[in-house]
Amino acid sequence: MNSKIVPVLAIDGPSGSGKGTVGQLLAERLGWHFLDSGALYRALGIAASRVGEALLHDADALARLAVSLDIRFVPQPSGAPVRVILNGTDVGDAIRTEDSGRLASIVAAVPQARAALLQKQHAFRRMPGLVADGRDMGTTVFPDAILKIFVTASAAVRAERRYKQLKEKGFDANLRRLLDEIRERDARDAALTASPLKPAADACILDTSSLSISDVVDRIHGLLQERLAR
Ligand code: C5P
Repeated sequence: MNSKIVPVLAIDGPSGSGKGTVGQLLAERLGWHFLDSGALYRALGIAASRVGEALLHDADALARLAVSLDIRFVPQPSGAPVRVILNGTDVGDAIRTEDSGRLASIVAAVPQARAALLQKQHAFRRMPGLVADGRDMGTTVFPDAILKIFVTASAAVRAERRYKQLKEKGFDANLRRLLDEIRERDARDAALTASPLKPAADACILDTSSLSISDVVDRIHGLLQERLAR
């Protein structure tokens, strides 16, 4: 079957915009598959750093590693982050740490690594549909998505959300440092030459700074129903 007929809902935006939770809740409500593309970059960063930090800066070796990466996602109920199985081992909380975010954004800046992960992302496009969460879902990976949403929130709101998340998990967190890290990561992601963080020309922009998760889910769900009915 031509995978192009499988509808894709692309949800892009910066870290902490809430797109991951929103995307997963939407996938659950719709009964669609879910792609957490950030987890692919995080897994590649972790796998590369396990071989040695030097690999992070070797474009060809990174691309080879990306192609050989055995990565599986196990969806969790109620918007909880998907479990990630990397080469047969559950990478558990390691995948959600600030350090894996840092590693992810280093490998994400390598065009060869991005190209190597494209096919893995396309493989998630299966019936009855796919909710794809990331930074370049609407611009590069699924340019023919039926609906493209670009979710934003101020850096201060995103840092606060991340702070609460970490505290709830019992991790140590420093709000000031998180805000600095978010600003640094935004700057790095916006400067990527291969896939800069920017909305697709035909994306709907949704600022979630003062919206609850369920408001955001309802709003996107409504927009999607309109598109599907066309
Ligand atoms: O979304 P998440 O915070 O897990 O993403 C981690 C990092 O992976 C991002 O900061 C970004 O550098 C990179 N990434 C990307 N393209 C995507 C998803 C993530 O470059 N589609």
